[in-house]
Amino acid sequence: MRRNFSQYFLISVLSLLAVAGAFKTAAGEEASVHAGSEWKAPARAAKKQNPVSLDANSVAQGKAVYIRECLSCHGNSGRGDGPQAKDLEKSPGNLTNAEMMNPHTDGDLFWKITEGNKPMPSYKKTLSDDERWQVVHYIRGLASKKGD
Ligand code: HEC
Repeated sequence: MRRNFSQYFLISVLSLLAVAGAFKTAAGEEASVHAGSEWKAPARAAKKQNPVSLDANSVAQGKAVYIRECLSCHGNSGRGDGPQAKDLEKSPGNLTNAEMMNPHTDGDLFWKITEGNKPMPSYKKTLSDDERWQVVHYIRGLASKKGD
């Protein structure tokens, strides 16, 4: 009886350790899946074409919107170093990084600017559709100017 008890004890300690280990991996995996999960526009939104033609005027309009609404976080050149950036719980990323930006369609960027993703605000109400498409043209230019 006694021996059995200590055997049981050992087995339960071992299985507790195994369970704890399993939880640890599960939690670790979940964290990495979450970190890796992209903030992605639904396919339909990503496919939308930019209805605003790309020209000096639309880029200039987009730039004005950017300076007014986006620069405080994303920074003058788009590197994510605006005056407000250091107070955010998440980095605004680097909009000048062509590798990061090029895979995004205009529709995808438009959707992100429309919806926001805390702490990035939603501009659904504060900017018109045209203004959001214009700022998409402008931020594309930031990436093609070559980042670092
Ligand atoms: C309050 C700070 C803040 C302001 C203002 C802001 N953003 Fe952001 N933005 C962020 C943060 C933080 C992220 C990263 C969000 C994430 O990855 O979940 C982000 C992400 C983005 C992305 C997505 C980049 C990617 O990884 O796909 C784009 C595009 C963008 N912002 C454009 C804009 C534009 C355009 C404006 C102005 C109209 C703007 N942002 C205003 C903080 C801000």
